[in-house]
Amino acid sequence: MTNVLVTGGAGFIGSNFVRWAHNAHPDWQITTLDKLTYAGRMENLAAVMDSPRHRFVHGDIADAAVAGPLVRESELVVHFAAETHVDRSIQSAADFITTDVIGTFVLLEAARQAPNLKRFIQISTDEVYGSVPTGASRETDELRPRNPYSASKAGADRLAYSYWATYNVPAIITRASNNYGPNQFPEKVIPLFVTNAIDNIPVPLYGDGLNVRDWLHVDDHCRGIDVVIDSGTNGEVYNIGGGNEVTNVDLTHRILELAGRPSTLIRKVADRQGHDRRYALDTSKLRGLGWAPQVGFEQGLAATVDWYRQNETWWRPIKEQDQAYRTYYQAQYGTRAGA
Ligand code: NAD
Ligand code: TYD
Repeated sequence: MTNVLVTGGAGFIGSNFVRWAHNAHPDWQITTLDKLTYAGRMENLAAVMDSPRHRFVHGDIADAAVAGPLVRESELVVHFAAETHVDRSIQSAADFITTDVIGTFVLLEAARQAPNLKRFIQISTDEVYGSVPTGASRETDELRPRNPYSASKAGADRLAYSYWATYNVPAIITRASNNYGPNQFPEKVIPLFVTNAIDNIPVPLYGDGLNVRDWLHVDDHCRGIDVVIDSGTNGEVYNIGGGNEVTNVDLTHRILELAGRPSTLIRKVADRQGHDRRYALDTSKLRGLGWAPQVGFEQGLAATVDWYRQNETWWRPIKEQDQAYRTYYQAQYGTRAGA
């Protein structure tokens, strides 16, 4: 058996990865370490909770007493745990520094003392490149993060690299584009707009709606990480992008159409501060290892809308009963004047 530590495995991508890897790798003994912040949900791990090949540990990656022993017993670490929402980082950046930067540092320090560690996968993001008006970011491009979230992730990304260059920690960095799919917390644009549309309430589109994101289905992200674990080279960076560049306004129209709602639900609101205009990735390096996205955007988006339709018991309690969510929503949208 291979001892695998997945941090942040109760969140959106982490839980999809744990479920996917549990099926794909019967020889993996998976430990999920998660602090269960607002974004971490035990329900996301229901499918593996009874498995003898999965163990859940409730804890903070920045707590060396908890995280250290788990890293030291692992052969593979896949590090997803992070504060992840740009809008929240603009409201308050402190947790982003503590978790994304210091938490990653704590894991890397433990990784220096892990006798059997073969890979430490640092899950980074295309947002570290900053806004790219034209062309597509390559792994060798300069990092120009422009908001507290992407700056924290850039810090973690380069820390992981430095631990490889300095101490030979077997780190690999992946930089994925915007993910979508099941179990994404309803604060990011797709699950927020889908669930608002299901409820027939307005969807708040920032600014002129012409910002571009490259959408990657979470299953394609999982497969990309797996290829990197298998065939990547330590110390290297791999972009993982879906190749689906869509403006926010186009995305919003598609969601409303799939939900059977009129475009009059679109509410143009004040723009995000420092809003990155466009992200785009050159993925030829990972494609060179045999990976290619398999989920078409139309098909993936339709399946995602269906998932939210069929899993109201997952998101409705968050949106309707969770006081912390209500407080966040009010702070973010309550006073947002029309653009
Ligand atoms: P998420 O917010 O849904 O989940 C984050 C998880 O990390 C939660 O389960 C949370 O409880 C846990 N966590 C937070 N702080 C922790 C701490 N201190 N200790 C232990 N656990 C902690 O995030 P996501 O969208 O699934 O993103 C996962 C990773 O992928 C992040 O590193 C993110 O930067 C990266 N990423 C995300 C996207 C995207 O589109 N969502 C794209 C590229 C990269
Ligand atoms: P988001 O899902 O927060 O991801 P990120 O900022 O990490 O790319 O936002 C995706 C895009 O959608 C981004 O350009 C901001 C925009 N957006 C809105 O227009 N309205 C919203 O309510 C949200 C949450 C995002």
